Amino acid sequence: MEVFRIQGGCPLSGKVEISGSKNSSLPLFAATLLTKEECILENIPDLSDVRFMAEILEEMGAKVKRIKPTVWKINASDITHSAPYHLVRKMRASFLVLGPLLSRNGYAKVSLPGGCAIGLRPVNLHIYAMKKLGSGIELTDGYVIAKAKKGQLIGNKIVFPKVSVGATENAIMAAVFAKGETLIKNAALEPEIEDLCNCLISMGVEIEGVGTSSIYIQGVNSLKTISYRVISDRIEACSFIIAAAITKSHLSIKNVNVNHISAFLSVMKKIGLIYKVTEKTVEVFETDDLNPIKLKTSVYPGFPTDLQAQIVTLASLCKGNSEIQENIFENRFMHVPEL
Ligand code: UD1
Repeated sequence: MEVFRIQGGCPLSGKVEISGSKNSSLPLFAATLLTKEECILENIPDLSDVRFMAEILEEMGAKVKRIKPTVWKINASDITHSAPYHLVRKMRASFLVLGPLLSRNGYAKVSLPGGCAIGLRPVNLHIYAMKKLGSGIELTDGYVIAKAKKGQLIGNKIVFPKVSVGATENAIMAAVFAKGETLIKNAALEPEIEDLCNCLISMGVEIEGVGTSSIYIQGVNSLKTISYRVISDRIEACSFIIAAAITKSHLSIKNVNVNHISAFLSVMKKIGLIYKVTEKTVEVFETDDLNPIKLKTSVYPGFPTDLQAQIVTLASLCKGNSEIQENIFENRFMHVPEL
């Protein structure tokens, strides 16, 4: 959609049910490439990124079917090990097919992701992890060609020099069929990584340290068929809370995992937003005169960069001067001139 036409000036009201997490769904779609068994993924949000990831898997030979509005069936029993430029360039998360392909086949040819509007977003950490697991890497004509030295990756200790969500996910998936044990240090802590680990555990992978910065994976020879439900989307939940705050509305946001949004809720508390948390619901009440916001984006459990544009918008309506520092992506203030 290229145009949104919004009739403003009215408060929001009612209840809204939060969808499944986009940033969990994308790596889980990639993870289905690890196995020849059928995978059912539930609570998948209806988004173009998801449909696009499905297209990539299909192009690689997987059978992908949306069997209900939020349920997808994927069978990657017969696939190629190459992900083409015309697809990968469109969405950076498609680079997550590298780890599973390389792990399963000992070989993968994946296009480098294209440019990105919010910053450089290099893939050096992904490549570093694949090399640590014994893969040769060649960069030719915009493609990463990865070959496991003896046809199979070998478990190793990967110490990330910087925290990266995607590189941690690629490393975890690559370790699944690697021979022996892999230890990932300085792993990202985002709940979506925990979700990926839990899905792989249900496929039969032995993983310890789930939810911590040291993840231990014992390589396996085969995987089981699964039916797995993804977690709810914390960014969507917080975006609705901000929407209620901006429009001074009374809104009930349902199906929220409040443990995943603590940093965000503590900011809402500081600025004086009136809200009530009950189990999986956040109820926001009409609030006037919010205090200014002071925060820095950081890796989980810190304040997420994916909420920075929304919070800057809210800050423009708070009294006094707010101060928001972006620490994850170097070019993520493009909404500011618009405001
Ligand atoms: C994921 C999320 C995205 C979120 C971001 C940070 C998905 C599909 N996307 O993106 O919504 O904004 O986490 O929370 O889950 N970096 C390197 N080298 C690398 C990889 C990353 O230097 O090889 C840098 C990036 O440029 C960035 C920082 O590390 O500055 C964090 O990026 P990363 O955590 O990898 O983000 P993504 O996984 O791409």
